[in-house]
Amino acid sequence: MSEQHVLVSRDGAVLEIRFNRPAKKNAITNAMYGAMADGLEQAAADKSVRAILFTAAGDLFTAGNDLMDFAAINSGATADNAPREVARFLSRMIEAEKPVVVAVQGNAVGVGVTMLLQSDLVYIAENAKLITPFIDLGLVPENASSMTIPDRIGHVRAFQLLALCEPLGGRDAAACGIANAALPASEVEGKARAAAHALAKKPAESLRLTKNLMRNRDALKARMTEEGALFAQRLKSAEAAEAFAAFLERRPADFSKLG
Ligand code: COA
Repeated sequence: MSEQHVLVSRDGAVLEIRFNRPAKKNAITNAMYGAMADGLEQAAADKSVRAILFTAAGDLFTAGNDLMDFAAINSGATADNAPREVARFLSRMIEAEKPVVVAVQGNAVGVGVTMLLQSDLVYIAENAKLITPFIDLGLVPENASSMTIPDRIGHVRAFQLLALCEPLGGRDAAACGIANAALPASEVEGKARAAAHALAKKPAESLRLTKNLMRNRDALKARMTEEGALFAQRLKSAEAAEAFAAFLERRPADFSKLG
């Protein structure tokens, strides 16, 4: 059942959203994005929620978007007008006024990386790797990450991540400001949980106003919309078809005969 692939729970004033699909490396399906968006909407509507915590079961934080879902869009098996819950999730992340804390206990791929740039505190395992393979998949960056990543770490390091698709290690992620601290994997969730509870004890209105002052939501939404249009086109491209087929067939992609 897809709902169990994302667990939403309460611990006092902290609402926790947990990836719980370890057998598939927490790859995120359309239904899982829906459950994550529901969790964020619940947090926004409930005054007693004062902080949001993302965690994950298993050895990876998340392998990013489910590639079967992408392949179904590419082949036309999923209708163009089918609801895309990812857009609702990404919008709710940008709109979130309550603080968002993330525990990255293992490798994170794709949206598992770009969501960190939309969060407020990030703790990462020192042996974790952040990987953004959008170009290797024939796609373009999403979640305003073509803006947030270069803004955070500078153009050349962002290009290494987004164009060469080289992994960024946990320690380097902390050193360049994507994460607050790199820790032994076993300590990451506890540290993030403690930080979420510390935020939940702060004066909520002062915290809300401060976060709002620190976020340029109009620019983030504008870039997300621009990227989203290109992303939708690229999902249907021959380059993406080759990348998805290569993943399913467990072979390297060969783009040499395309374009
Ligand atoms: N979508 C769908 N299924 C995925 C997935 C994804 N993004 N990532 C992993 N899985 C599935 C695999 O197909 C496999 O399923 P199976 O056991 O039924 O064959 C299972 O999860 C385990 O994955 P596996 O590749 O065997 O694990 P690994 O530890 O060797 O490698 C990754 C882990 C994350 C490096 C590798 O799975 C990977 O590269 N995944 C794709 C990541 C990606 O490109 N995401 C899209 C970002 S936009």
